[in-house]
Amino acid sequence: MRIRDSGMPDEEYWETLFDVELILCRLGIERFHDVAELGCGYGTFSIPVAQSISGTLYTFDVNPAMLHRTLERGAGLPIVCQRRDVMQEGFGVPVDAVLLFNILHCEAPVKLLAHAAQALRPNGEVLVIHWRHGETPRGPSLDIRPRSEHVLRWAEDAGLHALSASIDLPPWHYGLRLGESGSRFPTQDRVSHRRQ
Ligand SMILES: C[S@@+](CC[C@H](N)C(=O)[O-])C[C@H]1O[C@@H](n2cnc3c(N)ncnc32)[C@H](O)[C@@H]1O
Repeated sequence: MRIRDSGMPDEEYWETLFDVELILCRLGIERFHDVAELGCGYGTFSIPVAQSISGTLYTFDVNPAMLHRTLERGAGLPIVCQRRDVMQEGFGVPVDAVLLFNILHCEAPVKLLAHAAQALRPNGEVLVIHWRHGETPRGPSLDIRPRSEHVLRWAEDAGLHALSASIDLPPWHYGLRLGESGSRFPTQDRVSHRRQ
């Protein structure tokens, strides 16, 4: 089922809303081998991710037009681009990182985070970005838009823990790194470093 409020404006406008290079750098995308992504959209992140990682990007969407556009842009890159309802079926591939970008305002965030956790290889990470809670030029309505503390609570329910403080991703986003294993980031620091 298509996630609520997951429609896209036109591509040119969408791509003015992110500093993609900065986002991927601050999340440390280059550390990963195989990566899975829910919602390729126009390939805004899929293409640079596939160019940065050492393995394959598996990206899934329910919208054929989005898959077509990402495939077109990703010709020659290590991208597997498939129609798949991730909410219903999960990711179905073992990977080193799962990207949940602009999507955790979905109806069942704990279920989605659990799908992501299930796809992780040992020491894998779930990387989240979302719109800041406040005035932004796009993004889901504020009543369904999660703050970083909501994501962290849902993550705990899905068996994941914060691996970093909330990461500032200007101009409009914050990010989180979540993992199943490794050292848990101290709650006090997590709160005091939050920049939203
Ligand atoms: C808000 S866009 C984000 C796209 C991309 N992650 C980005 O940030 O540029 C959400 C995308 O998720 C797709 N989508 C919605 N529900 C889905 C589902 N259940 N399974 C897979 N993709 C879905 C939509 O078609 C859309 O392309």
